[in-house]
Amino acid sequence: MKVGTDIKYAASLIKKGKIVAMPTETVYGLAANALNAMAVARIFEMKERPTFDPLIVHISSIEQLETLFRKPISPYVYTLAEAFWPGPLTIVSTKTPEVPDLVTSGLSTVGVRMPSHPVAHQLIKQSEVPLAAPSANKFGRISPTMVSHVLKQNFKAEYILDGGISDYGIESTVVSVQENGIKILRQGAITEDDLVKYVEVLSSTDENEEVEKHAPGMLKSHYSPHKPLYIYNNENYNSFLPGTGFIIKENKDIGLPPGIKTIALSENGNMAEMAVKLFSAMHTMEDDENIKQIYIEAVPEEGIGKAIMDRVKKAAYNYMKS
Ligand code: TXA
Ligand code: MG
Repeated sequence: MKVGTDIKYAASLIKKGKIVAMPTETVYGLAANALNAMAVARIFEMKERPTFDPLIVHISSIEQLETLFRKPISPYVYTLAEAFWPGPLTIVSTKTPEVPDLVTSGLSTVGVRMPSHPVAHQLIKQSEVPLAAPSANKFGRISPTMVSHVLKQNFKAEYILDGGISDYGIESTVVSVQENGIKILRQGAITEDDLVKYVEVLSSTDENEEVEKHAPGMLKSHYSPHKPLYIYNNENYNSFLPGTGFIIKENKDIGLPPGIKTIALSENGNMAEMAVKLFSAMHTMEDDENIKQIYIEAVPEEGIGKAIMDRVKKAAYNYMKS
Protein backbone atom coordinates (compact mmCIF):
# COMPACT_ATOMS: atom_id res chain seq x y z
CA MET A 1 0.00 0.00 0.00
CA LYS A 2 1.38 3.40 -0.99
CA VAL A 3 1.66 5.98 1.78
CA GLY A 4 1.77 9.73 1.15
CA THR A 5 0.30 13.14 1.76
CA ASP A 6 -1.06 13.91 -1.71
CA ILE A 7 -4.70 14.83 -1.04
CA LYS A 8 -5.38 15.73 -4.67
CA TYR A 9 -4.22 12.31 -5.83
CA ALA A 10 -6.26 10.61 -3.09
CA ALA A 11 -9.36 12.54 -4.17
CA SER A 12 -8.81 11.48 -7.79
CA LEU A 13 -8.75 7.84 -6.62
CA ILE A 14 -12.01 8.31 -4.69
CA LYS A 15 -13.61 9.78 -7.81
CA LYS A 16 -12.63 6.62 -9.70
CA GLY A 17 -14.37 4.44 -7.09
CA LYS A 18 -11.14 3.42 -5.32
CA ILE A 19 -10.46 3.13 -1.61
CA VAL A 20 -8.18 5.43 0.38
CA ALA A 21 -7.19 5.14 4.04
CA MET A 22 -7.61 8.58 5.61
CA PRO A 23 -6.61 10.09 8.93
CA THR A 24 -9.30 11.51 11.17
CA GLU A 25 -9.14 13.10 14.61
CA THR A 26 -10.61 9.88 16.12
CA VAL A 27 -9.02 6.93 14.30
CA TYR A 28 -7.96 6.21 10.70
CA GLY A 29 -10.76 5.25 8.31
CA LEU A 30 -11.03 3.31 5.03
CA ALA A 31 -12.84 5.74 2.77
CA ALA A 32 -14.82 5.42 -0.46
CA ASN A 33 -17.50 7.40 -2.28
CA ALA A 34 -20.56 6.79 -0.08
CA LEU A 35 -22.90 7.13 -3.06
CA ASN A 36 -21.11 4.44 -5.10
CA ALA A 37 -22.40 1.05 -3.93
CA MET A 38 -19.64 -0.86 -5.75
CA ALA A 39 -16.94 1.11 -3.98
CA VAL A 40 -18.71 0.63 -0.65
CA ALA A 41 -18.91 -3.12 -1.29
CA ARG A 42 -15.12 -3.20 -1.63
CA ILE A 43 -14.73 -1.63 1.82
CA PHE A 44 -16.73 -4.48 3.36
CA GLU A 45 -14.64 -7.00 1.47
CA MET A 46 -11.33 -5.40 2.45
CA LYS A 47 -12.26 -5.15 6.11
CA GLU A 48 -13.78 -8.65 6.15
CA ARG A 49 -16.72 -6.90 7.72
CA PRO A 50 -20.16 -8.49 7.89
CA THR A 51 -22.68 -6.57 5.83
CA PHE A 52 -25.01 -6.16 8.81
CA ASP A 53 -22.62 -3.57 10.30
CA PRO A 54 -23.50 -0.08 8.95
CA LEU A 55 -20.87 2.47 7.90
CA ILE A 56 -20.54 6.10 8.97
CA VAL A 57 -20.72 8.73 6.21
CA HIS A 58 -18.25 11.64 6.45
CA ILE A 59 -19.07 15.10 5.15
CA SER A 60 -17.34 18.46 4.84
CA SER A 61 -20.39 20.76 4.66
CA ILE A 62 -23.92 21.06 5.99
CA GLU A 63 -25.22 21.08 2.38
CA GLN A 64 -24.01 17.47 2.07
CA LEU A 65 -25.93 16.58 5.22
CA GLU A 66 -29.09 17.72 3.53
CA THR A 67 -28.60 15.17 0.75
CA LEU A 68 -28.22 12.33 3.27
CA PHE A 69 -30.89 13.00 5.94
CA ARG A 70 -34.54 12.91 4.96
CA LYS A 71 -36.46 16.16 5.38
CA PRO A 72 -37.79 17.57 7.58
CA ILE A 73 -34.47 17.30 9.42
CA SER A 74 -34.88 17.36 13.19
CA PRO A 75 -33.80 20.61 14.87
CA TYR A 76 -31.68 18.44 17.22
CA VAL A 77 -29.46 17.63 14.24
CA TYR A 78 -28.68 21.30 13.67
CA THR A 79 -28.18 21.97 17.38
CA LEU A 80 -25.70 19.11 17.65
CA ALA A 81 -23.96 20.01 14.39
CA GLU A 82 -23.55 23.58 15.56
CA ALA A 83 -22.16 22.49 18.93
CA PHE A 84 -19.89 19.59 17.97
CA TRP A 85 -19.02 19.71 14.25
CA PRO A 86 -16.51 19.49 12.88
CA GLY A 87 -15.60 16.88 15.47
CA PRO A 88 -16.01 13.37 16.90
CA LEU A 89 -19.82 13.08 16.94
CA THR A 90 -21.82 10.81 14.61
CA ILE A 91 -25.50 11.65 14.24
CA VAL A 92 -27.91 8.89 13.16
CA SER A 93 -31.18 9.95 11.52
CA THR A 94 -33.56 8.81 8.76
CA LYS A 95 -31.82 8.56 5.38
CA THR A 96 -32.71 9.70 1.87
CA PRO A 97 -32.99 7.19 -1.00
CA GLU A 98 -29.65 8.49 -2.37
CA VAL A 99 -27.78 6.63 0.38
CA PRO A 100 -27.14 3.07 -0.85
CA ASP A 101 -28.65 0.37 1.37
CA LEU A 102 -25.26 -1.29 1.63
CA VAL A 103 -23.89 1.73 3.51
CA THR A 104 -26.58 1.43 6.16
CA SER A 105 -26.90 -2.38 6.13
CA GLY A 106 -30.50 -1.96 5.03
CA LEU A 107 -31.44 0.30 7.95
CA SER A 108 -33.73 3.24 7.31
CA THR A 109 -31.23 5.49 9.12
CA VAL A 110 -27.72 6.66 8.31
CA GLY A 111 -24.89 7.80 10.61
CA VAL A 112 -23.17 11.03 9.52
CA ARG A 113 -20.25 13.00 10.89
CA MET A 114 -18.10 15.97 9.88
CA PRO A 115 -14.50 15.25 10.86
CA SER A 116 -12.28 18.05 12.12
CA HIS A 117 -8.98 16.58 10.88
CA PRO A 118 -7.80 19.00 8.17
CA VAL A 119 -6.63 16.18 5.87
CA ALA A 120 -9.98 14.36 6.11
CA HIS A 121 -11.79 17.66 5.55
CA GLN A 122 -9.77 18.43 2.42
CA LEU A 123 -10.13 14.89 1.08
CA ILE A 124 -13.93 15.03 1.36
CA LYS A 125 -14.03 18.51 -0.16
CA GLN A 126 -11.80 17.64 -3.09
CA SER A 127 -13.59 14.32 -3.71
CA GLU A 128 -16.83 16.32 -3.97
CA VAL A 129 -18.85 13.45 -2.46
CA PRO A 130 -19.57 12.24 1.06
CA LEU A 131 -17.20 9.43 2.12
CA ALA A 132 -18.29 6.20 3.76
CA ALA A 133 -15.52 5.15 6.12
CA PRO A 134 -15.29 2.53 8.84
CA SER A 135 -12.21 2.39 11.04
CA ALA A 136 -9.25 1.07 9.03
CA ASN A 137 -8.80 -2.25 10.81
CA LYS A 138 -9.94 -5.79 10.02
CA PHE A 139 -13.36 -6.48 11.55
CA GLY A 140 -13.21 -7.00 15.31
CA ARG A 141 -9.59 -5.94 15.68
CA ILE A 142 -7.79 -2.99 17.25
CA SER A 143 -8.54 0.39 15.66
CA PRO A 144 -5.67 2.33 14.02
CA THR A 145 -4.47 5.69 15.30
CA MET A 146 -1.41 6.05 13.02
CA VAL A 147 -0.22 4.87 9.61
CA SER A 148 1.81 1.90 10.92
CA HIS A 149 -1.37 0.47 12.47
CA VAL A 150 -3.09 0.65 9.08
CA LEU A 151 -0.12 -0.89 7.26
CA LYS A 152 -0.13 -3.98 9.46
CA GLN A 153 -3.68 -4.85 8.28
CA ASN A 154 -2.34 -5.56 4.76
CA PHE A 155 -5.34 -4.04 3.05
CA LYS A 156 -5.37 -3.78 -0.71
CA ALA A 157 -6.35 -0.11 -0.47
CA GLU A 158 -4.93 2.06 -3.24
CA TYR A 159 -3.41 4.72 -1.00
CA ILE A 160 -2.92 5.71 2.63
CA LEU A 161 -3.00 9.41 3.43
CA ASP A 162 -0.64 10.15 6.29
CA GLY A 163 -2.05 12.66 8.76
CA GLY A 164 0.05 11.86 11.81
CA ILE A 165 -1.32 10.51 15.08
CA SER A 166 -5.08 10.84 15.71
CA ASP A 167 -5.85 13.53 18.28
CA TYR A 168 -8.53 11.63 20.23
CA GLY A 169 -7.46 8.02 19.62
CA ILE A 170 -10.95 6.69 20.23
CA GLU A 171 -13.93 6.54 17.84
CA SER A 172 -16.68 9.13 17.59
CA THR A 173 -19.67 9.11 19.92
CA VAL A 174 -22.69 7.78 18.01
CA VAL A 175 -26.10 9.24 18.87
CA SER A 176 -29.49 8.59 17.30
CA VAL A 177 -32.02 11.37 16.97
CA GLN A 178 -35.44 10.62 18.47
CA GLU A 179 -38.58 12.67 18.74
CA ASN A 180 -37.88 13.95 22.25
CA GLY A 181 -34.11 13.94 22.42
CA ILE A 182 -31.20 11.67 21.53
CA LYS A 183 -29.91 8.26 22.54
CA ILE A 184 -26.25 7.38 22.85
CA LEU A 185 -25.55 4.28 20.74
CA ARG A 186 -21.77 4.23 21.20
CA GLN A 187 -19.69 5.99 23.84
CA GLY A 188 -16.89 8.06 22.39
CA ALA A 189 -14.77 11.15 22.50
CA ILE A 190 -17.77 13.40 23.22
CA THR A 191 -19.26 12.55 26.60
CA GLU A 192 -22.81 12.50 27.88
CA ASP A 193 -21.96 15.51 30.07
CA ASP A 194 -21.03 17.41 26.89
CA LEU A 195 -24.25 16.37 25.12
CA VAL A 196 -26.74 17.20 27.89
CA LYS A 197 -25.73 20.84 27.69
CA TYR A 198 -27.51 20.97 24.32
CA VAL A 199 -30.16 18.23 24.09
CA GLU A 200 -32.00 15.81 26.30
CA VAL A 201 -30.20 12.46 26.44
CA LEU A 202 -32.76 9.66 26.72
CA SER A 203 -31.81 6.46 28.47
CA SER A 204 -30.40 4.01 25.92
CA THR A 205 -30.03 0.32 25.30
CA ASP A 206 -33.46 -1.11 24.92
CA GLU A 207 -32.22 -4.51 23.74
CA ASN A 208 -35.09 -4.92 21.30
CA GLU A 209 -34.55 -1.86 19.21
CA GLU A 210 -33.92 -2.48 15.53
CA VAL A 211 -31.04 -0.10 15.45
CA GLU A 212 -29.11 -1.84 18.17
CA LYS A 213 -29.29 -5.28 16.68
CA HIS A 214 -27.62 -3.71 13.67
CA ALA A 215 -24.93 -1.79 15.47
CA PRO A 216 -21.95 -3.99 16.15
CA GLY A 217 -20.12 -1.03 17.62
CA MET A 218 -22.20 -2.47 20.43
CA LEU A 219 -21.23 -6.11 20.06
CA LYS A 220 -19.73 -7.58 23.20
CA SER A 221 -16.43 -8.43 21.52
CA HIS A 222 -14.51 -5.91 19.40
CA TYR A 223 -11.22 -3.95 19.22
CA SER A 224 -9.46 -7.17 20.13
CA PRO A 225 -5.72 -8.01 19.98
CA HIS A 226 -4.49 -11.38 18.66
CA LYS A 227 -3.32 -12.45 22.11
CA PRO A 228 -5.15 -12.75 25.42
CA LEU A 229 -5.99 -9.45 27.04
CA TYR A 230 -7.27 -9.32 30.61
CA ILE A 231 -8.54 -6.46 32.71
CA TYR A 232 -6.26 -6.24 35.75
CA ASN A 233 -8.20 -7.23 38.83
CA ASN A 234 -5.79 -6.68 41.71
CA GLU A 235 -3.92 -9.92 41.09
CA ASN A 236 -0.57 -10.10 42.83
CA TYR A 237 2.07 -8.88 40.35
CA ASN A 238 4.23 -11.84 41.31
CA SER A 239 1.64 -14.15 39.77
CA PHE A 240 2.16 -12.56 36.32
CA LEU A 241 3.58 -15.17 33.95
CA PRO A 242 6.78 -14.46 32.03
CA GLY A 243 5.92 -12.65 28.82
CA THR A 244 3.24 -10.49 30.42
CA GLY A 245 2.71 -6.99 29.08
CA PHE A 246 0.99 -4.57 31.46
CA ILE A 247 -0.81 -1.46 30.22
CA ILE A 248 -1.01 0.89 33.19
CA LYS A 249 -2.97 4.09 33.71
CA GLU A 250 -0.13 6.38 34.67
CA ASN A 251 3.61 6.50 34.65
CA LYS A 252 4.58 5.65 38.22
CA ASP A 253 6.58 2.93 39.90
CA ILE A 254 4.13 0.33 41.20
CA GLY A 255 6.83 -2.13 42.24
CA LEU A 256 6.50 -4.62 39.41
CA PRO A 257 8.90 -7.57 39.31
CA PRO A 258 11.53 -7.42 36.54
CA GLY A 259 10.69 -8.73 33.08
CA ILE A 260 7.20 -7.27 32.86
CA LYS A 261 6.89 -4.86 29.95
CA THR A 262 4.77 -1.85 30.86
CA ILE A 263 3.23 0.91 28.77
CA ALA A 264 1.75 3.89 30.63
CA LEU A 265 -1.32 5.42 29.03
CA SER A 266 -0.63 8.80 30.61
CA GLU A 267 2.01 10.69 32.54
CA ASN A 268 -0.21 11.79 35.44
CA GLY A 269 -3.61 10.17 35.03
CA ASN A 270 -5.04 12.55 32.40
CA MET A 271 -7.95 10.64 30.81
CA ALA A 272 -7.86 12.33 27.39
CA GLU A 273 -4.20 11.29 27.13
CA MET A 274 -5.17 7.72 28.08
CA ALA A 275 -7.73 7.62 25.26
CA VAL A 276 -5.14 8.83 22.74
CA LYS A 277 -2.69 6.07 23.71
CA LEU A 278 -5.09 3.17 24.34
CA PHE A 279 -5.21 1.50 20.90
CA SER A 280 -1.58 2.35 20.27
CA ALA A 281 -0.52 0.54 23.47
CA MET A 282 -2.62 -2.47 22.46
CA HIS A 283 -0.98 -2.53 19.01
CA THR A 284 2.52 -2.31 20.53
CA MET A 285 1.82 -5.22 22.87
CA GLU A 286 0.25 -7.23 20.04
CA ASP A 287 3.31 -6.65 17.81
CA ASP A 288 5.89 -7.55 20.49
CA GLU A 289 6.83 -11.21 19.98
CA ASN A 290 8.00 -11.54 23.56
CA ILE A 291 4.60 -10.68 24.94
CA LYS A 292 2.28 -13.66 25.36
CA GLN A 293 -0.54 -12.04 27.31
CA ILE A 294 -1.61 -8.53 28.15
CA TYR A 295 -3.09 -7.05 31.31
CA ILE A 296 -4.66 -3.62 31.36
CA GLU A 297 -5.61 -1.47 34.32
CA ALA A 298 -9.23 -0.28 34.47
CA VAL A 299 -9.84 3.47 34.47
CA PRO A 300 -12.70 5.26 36.26
CA GLU A 301 -15.90 5.18 34.18
CA GLU A 302 -16.39 8.92 34.19
CA GLY A 303 -16.33 11.33 31.26
CA ILE A 304 -14.25 9.86 28.45
CA GLY A 305 -13.37 7.01 30.84
CA LYS A 306 -16.73 5.46 29.83
CA ALA A 307 -15.63 5.26 26.21
CA ILE A 308 -12.20 3.94 27.22
CA MET A 309 -13.71 1.17 29.36
CA ASP A 310 -16.24 0.33 26.63
CA ARG A 311 -13.28 -0.42 24.31
CA VAL A 312 -11.27 -2.22 27.01
CA LYS A 313 -14.16 -4.50 28.03
CA LYS A 314 -14.88 -5.45 24.42
CA ALA A 315 -11.18 -6.08 23.73
CA ALA A 316 -11.03 -8.37 26.80
CA TYR A 317 -14.38 -10.05 26.24
CA ASN A 318 -13.17 -13.17 24.43
CA TYR A 319 -10.56 -13.78 27.10
CA MET A 320 -12.79 -13.24 30.12
CA LYS A 321 -11.86 -15.57 32.98
CA SER A 322 -15.11 -16.81 34.43
O1 TXA B 1 -14.65 7.88 14.79
C1 TXA B 1 -15.29 7.17 14.01
O2 TXA B 1 -16.52 7.11 14.05
C2 TXA B 1 -14.49 6.36 12.98
C3 TXA B 1 -13.82 7.32 12.01
C4 TXA B 1 -13.13 6.63 10.86
O3 TXA B 1 -14.75 8.26 11.57
N1 TXA B 1 -15.33 5.44 12.30
C5 TXA B 1 -15.83 4.32 12.90
O4 TXA B 1 -16.55 3.49 12.06
O5 TXA B 1 -15.66 4.06 14.07
P1 TXA B 1 -16.88 1.98 12.37
O6 TXA B 1 -17.36 1.42 11.10
O7 TXA B 1 -15.71 1.32 12.98
O8 TXA B 1 -18.09 2.04 13.35
C6 TXA B 1 -19.38 2.34 12.86
C7 TXA B 1 -20.40 2.08 13.91
C8 TXA B 1 -21.24 0.85 13.63
O9 TXA B 1 -20.63 -0.35 14.07
C9 TXA B 1 -22.48 1.17 14.42
O10 TXA B 1 -22.24 0.86 15.78
C10 TXA B 1 -22.60 2.68 14.28
O11 TXA B 1 -21.34 3.14 13.90
N2 TXA B 1 -23.56 3.04 13.22
C11 TXA B 1 -23.32 3.47 11.97
N3 TXA B 1 -24.47 3.71 11.29
C12 TXA B 1 -25.46 3.42 12.13
C13 TXA B 1 -26.91 3.43 12.02
N4 TXA B 1 -27.54 3.81 10.92
N5 TXA B 1 -27.59 3.06 13.11
C14 TXA B 1 -26.97 2.68 14.24
N6 TXA B 1 -25.62 2.64 14.40
C15 TXA B 1 -24.88 2.99 13.36
MG1 MG C 1 -14.44 0.10 14.06
